[in-house]
Amino acid sequence: MGSWEEFYATHLPPSDFEDNRQLLKQFCENHLKDQSQNIVLITSGGTIAPLEHNTVRFVDNFSAGSRGSASAEYFLENNYAVIFLFRTKSLEPFTRHFSGQQFLDMLEINENGENSTISVRPDSTDVLLPILQKYKQAQETNRLLYVNFTSVSDYLWLLRAACECLAPFEKRALLYLAAAVSDFYVPEEDMPKHKIQSTGAPKISLELVPKILKPLVSSWVPQAFVVSFKLETDDSLLIAKSRESLIKYNHKLVIANILQTRKHRVVLVSPNASHEILLTKDQAHSGLEIEEPIVADVTRRHEEFQVAGEQ
Ligand code: PMT
Repeated sequence: MGSWEEFYATHLPPSDFEDNRQLLKQFCENHLKDQSQNIVLITSGGTIAPLEHNTVRFVDNFSAGSRGSASAEYFLENNYAVIFLFRTKSLEPFTRHFSGQQFLDMLEINENGENSTISVRPDSTDVLLPILQKYKQAQETNRLLYVNFTSVSDYLWLLRAACECLAPFEKRALLYLAAAVSDFYVPEEDMPKHKIQSTGAPKISLELVPKILKPLVSSWVPQAFVVSFKLETDDSLLIAKSRESLIKYNHKLVIANILQTRKHRVVLVSPNASHEILLTKDQAHSGLEIEEPIVADVTRRHEEFQVAGEQ
């Protein structure tokens, strides 16, 4: 595996990088002045690893962005300013509630020739109104910034830029790294320029993406409260791997989950303890999302971390 410095040296930033960097800078400067304002960077969705420079094909992963987009709403409810760094076309806060035709089904046309109008069906107002109110509130208070990525290299460039802007918040910054970041990629120099022809089975050799948690925790945002996620498919590895990560990177918390059960069970692993959050069937049926208790727990820990720093 090459070093993280080498990765940046051999991958160009995305074409809209400067624009996004300015947005991040502006957003953070606006909130930095208010000493009581906490800020969270949420990463969400999967990254792709392209197989060609003119990318037709790529290696992707399962992540839909449910965890990150739902968590963003709960962080807003807990008065955080939120930077939502998400995979293009994955789920986003607020709009995630209305997939596909669901939104159109909530509307009705009031026919009046050229003066026809659209209104929300009365039986949909109860659903739409609270979500719209929360969305508008986030917009009006300028507490939600969306920044999107597609490839693992875009993600890493934007993550570093976001960290540069978050560092001055010191302990008020929380990083909630829920994105499913590619572990493997095809190095730029090994990648064909054009679409791989289907004349024979290609041999594709992947390399390890350097673990970015290392510089992030030790150098980029050394005072922030960093929460990483650990995804496994084998339950017997989950807690040991999470502890290993805490020891290796020296951050505050790992939220461990298993692919198949991630919507109703997570384990919050800290250096000294682990705490399970498990939704009952009744809770899930009543509409409770696991991100609500996760965010409540994480914000409480972040608060304690800040208070401990003041003593
Ligand atoms: O989006 P959903 O469908 O709702 O799914 C949510 C989720 C399962 C993706 C989420 O809950 C989750 O577990 N995200 C992390 C998945 C993952 O990448 O795990 P990992 O074990 O490969 O990586 C562990 C940590 O290392 C991650 O926090 C990641 O930010 C970090 N990492 C990963 C790769 C890399 N090169 N450098 C890193 O620092």
